[in-house]
Order: sequence, then C-alpha cells, then structure tokens
Amino acid sequence: MSSELFDEIYSGGHRVIKNEELLHPDTVPPRMPHREEELKKLAYLFMSLVKEPGETFNFAVISGKQGVGKTHSTIFFYEHGLAKHLKEKQGKEIILAHVNCFKNSTLNSILATVLNSMLRVPQPARGLSPKEQLDIIMNRLERKDRYMLLVLDDFHVALQRQGESLTNFFVRMYEDSEYKKKRVHVVFIVRDFDVMERYLSDQKAKLNLKSRHIHFDPYTSSQLFDILEDRAKLALYESSYDEEVLWEISRMIGYDVNPTLPDSGSARFAIEMLYYAARNAEEHGRSQITIDDVRVAWGVLSERGGDLIRISEALEDLNDHQLLLLLSLLNLLKLDPEGVPIGRIEEEYREVCEVAGVEPRKHTQVYQYVTDMEKKGIVDRIVGKVKNSKGRSSIISVRYPPDAMRRRVLEILKRRGYNVAHLA
Ligand SMILES: Nc1ncnc2c1ncn2[C@@H]1O[C@H](COP(=O)(O)OP(=O)(O)OP(=O)(O)O)[C@@H](O)[C@H]1O
Ligand SMILES: [Mg+2]
Repeated sequence: MSSELFDEIYSGGHRVIKNEELLHPDTVPPRMPHREEELKKLAYLFMSLVKEPGETFNFAVISGKQGVGKTHSTIFFYEHGLAKHLKEKQGKEIILAHVNCFKNSTLNSILATVLNSMLRVPQPARGLSPKEQLDIIMNRLERKDRYMLLVLDDFHVALQRQGESLTNFFVRMYEDSEYKKKRVHVVFIVRDFDVMERYLSDQKAKLNLKSRHIHFDPYTSSQLFDILEDRAKLALYESSYDEEVLWEISRMIGYDVNPTLPDSGSARFAIEMLYYAARNAEEHGRSQITIDDVRVAWGVLSERGGDLIRISEALEDLNDHQLLLLLSLLNLLKLDPEGVPIGRIEEEYREVCEVAGVEPRKHTQVYQYVTDMEKKGIVDRIVGKVKNSKGRSSIISVRYPPDAMRRRVLEILKRRGYNVAHLA
C-alpha cells in the first residue's frame, strides 16, 4: 500500500461539508422553517412574562413525535424571543433550565438537577423535600432578580413514574405560596398530549392545559425539503448537492409519502441522512453527493436503528400489558426467529401474566395491542402459513435484534415495579 492513498484525503480537506457543526443533531439552527406558527403561539403564551414579569405564571405544553423540532423550537424561542425581549423591554435576565426527563425521571432528581447544574447550588447531604428544593430555587432567583424557563423535556417518561403528583406540583407551584414573584415558568415537552391530561384530575386545570397546548405535526416531504435546503446552504459547499438529492431524502421520510416509517416526518432523521450522504461522497473522494450516497446513508441509518436508539422511546410509551405481550413475542422469537403466529403469542402472554401476577387482557384487546404496536413500527405482521399445520395466520416478528429489545423491555418493566427476576 503506498502512502499516496492518504494524499488525496488530506490534500483537499472537506470537499462537500463546509461546516460540520451545523449538521450535528444538537446544534440549534439559526432559522426554523415551518415552525413559525408554533413559535408565535409559544411567544403568545409567554406574553405576560415579558409585559409584567413575575405577576402571572406562564407555561406551555408541546407535543409531537420524535425529531419534529420540539426541543430546538423551545430553545430557539428562549434565545431569540424570550430572553432577548425580557432584557430589552424590562432589563431582566431569564435563565434556561433544560432538564432531560429520561435521565431525571422523579420530582426530586428534576429539582436536584436544576439546583446543581443550573444554579450551582450543591445538594446538602440530607435529602430535601421537593418543596424545600423549590424554595431554594425561588430564593436564589429572587436574590439575583432573575427568572427561569424550566424546560421539562420528554416529560412523559417522568409521568410514567410519578404521574399525577408531578404535573400537579408544577401546575400548582404558586398556589398558596409565599413567593414574592413568580420566577419559574415551565415548558412541558411530551410525545402525546393525552398523557398530560390523563394525570390531571381537576377539570379546570385540564381546560387550562388545553388552551396552553401546541402540537407539532410531523413534517411533510415538501417541508423537509425546505428544512434540508436551508441546512444544506449553511453546511455544505454550494456545488456539492442538487435539489434532486434533497428531494430524494425528503420523499423517503416525508410523513405524507411514508407515514408508517417510525421516523417519518422527522427532521432529525432527514438531516442525519444528508450528513451521512455527504460523508459517503467525501470518503469516496467525490465533491458531489449522488442519489447513491443517499441510498447508502439510508442503509447505514436503518441498520443503526438496529441498536434500538429509535425504538427505545416508543417502548417507553407502551402500557404494561403491551410490554408483557411484547416480552412474550420476544421469548418465542428465540426459538423461532422468523416470526410467531399471533395465537401462540397469546398463549405465552397468558403464562407470562401468571408469572407476573396480573390478570391477562381479553382476546380482542390482545389483538388490538398487536395492531397498535404494528402502527408504531415496533412489530411487523405478515399473513403466512403456520408451521406444521395447514392454516394461515398473522405471523408477528420484530425488525430489531430481539435480544437487545428483550433486555430493554425487561428494564422498563423492572422500573415499573415488576419482579423481573421471575420474568427473565
Ligand atoms: N423546522 C426546522 N427547521 C430546521 N431544523 C429543524 C426543524 N425542526 C427540527 N429541526 C432539526 O431537527 C433535529 C431534531 O429536532 P429536535 O431535537 O428539536 O426534535 P424533537 O421533537 O425534540 O425530537 P425528540 O422527541 O426525539 O427529542 C434538530 O437537529 C433540529 O435542529
Ligand atoms: Mg427533543
């Protein structure tokens, strides 16, 4: 092998990618096309905070599936809307406390995260109650005359653990409180709005919640095209791509064209595809992205889906019985990796329920659950011949490595209080 091999790579530098950072999934872009309406609505919900800071409590609930811009729109609104205008109009500062509820799924750990990492208050050795934690946060802000936008991201994960008490805590933070000013304001980000409502018993609070809800629809292919075009202009060399490449990606992922894909309508997935396609072109010494690069990117990303990154979040949204049913399927797939007839899964599910000490759901409900999981892209169904019999039936399988998926299902069940030692 001669050393010229490397010359080509190092002599030219990047040929396609001009600014790699702008293709990174964590980089909040300078513009967010097709979220103008949602951003305006968000700004409207926080109007009184800018007009009369501290007088009223402002919050919003944002819902939508993965990759549709919930997190970045919120940060974008904070940076370009809220913080800027509060400073300009009132001379006040507002800090952003962005809490990931996958990592911090209890009230205590949410508040501890705010204290430790955002306000840099060390946690005392003795455990504090949530009320005490909140008091410290409020006092801190009061002393410095600051405000806080608390973003509870992926809040549905925390709700699955602590349900009602959690929503009530935040929604009623200022009821009967002695705080001088209302300094903490909240954006809840969830997959489904229903989850938020389910955990609020008070009718009035429910109505209030509805009026503060903004749903983010998955993007259509033409919206994805605009987003990609905008991002490509910022991140790639002008001559390195053409519209056809961007359309190819947009059509693969657009919600209007491919609604059953787990990632359909996801801008994150579209931008990742563009990035992988660009890298593939560069790795082959080319300075233009081709449709073939897009296909390679698709292959790489769908395979990576195999490590469950994408599906993990969908699993969190399943109810306990769906998880037990899925576990039954995964048990059987060990013996029969090709797929399992639905009737056989139901038998296994009854046994699993017995071990778990719960009453199994009725036959029709079980079939409904399978249909739901199929819609969410968790299981696949084909109608086929049943082994060692003449009949045909729905045969169910999964697209992801069953072992890894089974571990993940057991982990979630454990978190929900099931004795997994028996189930595993
Ligand atoms: N309208 C848009 N314009 C430009 N970029 C966008 C837009 N919407 C989303 N993106 C980009 O897509 C990626 C995913 O967005 P974001 O992380 O905000 O999604 P999300 O809805 O929070 O997803 P998840 O539920 O998986 O956390 C980010 O890189 C973001 O910058
Ligand atoms: Mg997010």
